[in-house]
Amino acid sequence: MQRSLEDLISTRRVIVTVGCGGVGKTTVAAAVALAAARKGRRVLCLTIDPAKRLATSLGLKEMRAEAQTVPPELWGQPESTGGALTAMMLDVRGTFDELVTRHASSPEVRDRILSNRIYREVAGNLAGTPEYMAMEKLHAVRDDPRYDLIVLDTPPTSNALDFLDAPDKMIDAMDSPAVKAFVTAFQRGGSLSLSFLSRAMAKVLQGLSTFTGGGFLEQIAEFLSDLQGLFGGFRERASKVRESLAARDVAFVLVTSTDPMAVGEAMFFAERLQQNGMVAEAVVMNRVRSLPEQAPPSADRLAGILGEAGVEPAQELGNAFSKSWRDAQVWARRDAQEVARVARDFAAVPRHVVVPALDEDVYDIAALTHVAACLV
Ligand SMILES: Nc1ncnc2c1ncn2[C@@H]1O[C@H](COP(=O)(O)OP(=O)(O)OP(=O)(O)O)[C@@H](O)[C@H]1O
Ligand SMILES: [Mg+2]
Repeated sequence: MQRSLEDLISTRRVIVTVGCGGVGKTTVAAAVALAAARKGRRVLCLTIDPAKRLATSLGLKEMRAEAQTVPPELWGQPESTGGALTAMMLDVRGTFDELVTRHASSPEVRDRILSNRIYREVAGNLAGTPEYMAMEKLHAVRDDPRYDLIVLDTPPTSNALDFLDAPDKMIDAMDSPAVKAFVTAFQRGGSLSLSFLSRAMAKVLQGLSTFTGGGFLEQIAEFLSDLQGLFGGFRERASKVRESLAARDVAFVLVTSTDPMAVGEAMFFAERLQQNGMVAEAVVMNRVRSLPEQAPPSADRLAGILGEAGVEPAQELGNAFSKSWRDAQVWARRDAQEVARVARDFAAVPRHVVVPALDEDVYDIAALTHVAACLV
């Protein structure tokens, strides 16, 4: 049951790390990419996380929207195996622009949307947009012959399921009856009549309009009106993207911490994947705490040692250390139980790996190598 991710890393075309916030998706994605490159694959690690830590752990100054090659000497490739490591940060706005450009009915509509003030302000921030754009970008690079493997790190959502639901949610929000009514009111009058709204709502919107300067509502209405023409294309594209994630060469890796809530969410996500014709190929239990094999000396004995060495206050220090040791024992026991539970509850997932909690955050190649070693 405790099979490693080695075969996935060596054979799949796309590996997607999913899980709830902060469990280690980005770290595992980078470690997978590193392990694959060392095996001689040409890897693109596509992340949405601008974390400086991630860039430094890959030996880069910063993550950028353009593809950056990680020099092989940085990831310590002993002999040339032909592997290559490229990192790219998802540019949500840029990807949205590409989507608009692809689906706009004419260059005029395209330019009108791209130069619309509302679009420029909100395009990157609409709920679900980062998730949707991550899928979109994956679709766009999927057939790129420069890469053998694309590792996709999913956005820091609070809910892992957002990733699958994002495209529909985003489109539904902008295509809702309320928005349609708004757009119709705009299109009918040429300029905006707020008569279709409740008086209270109209007041709020008018207030907003004064607040943000003239033409605000018109800009919104124009933007939504133009965008609606694109939804057919968006929807079709979104379902294609989703279908492509169900392909056999795509592997989903569930990442979870030992927190029972995170484990529960991973379970829920595994079920959702299945309902969508996708498979969770592996579960990575990250940041698992354990104890060193050798127990430390007792509080009194430690105090004695410290006292002899002239370290004061020896007794307090001895007691404090002893207390933190007892806490660590509790955590380690709890994590061991959670690992056992995951082994049972995720029995249908064919690969399980446990990554220990490292002493510090993962911020350099050495730490990333450590994580990668656990995966393979
Ligand atoms: N095994 C580990 N040991 C120690 N620290 C770890 C380990 N794995 C991840 N971390 C640290 O935990 C933090 C969260 O990890 P990471 O950014 O990979 O999570 P994430 O799931 O991508 O988070 P988000 O949902 O915000 O994108 C980081 O500071 C990372 O360095
Ligand atoms: Mg992340």
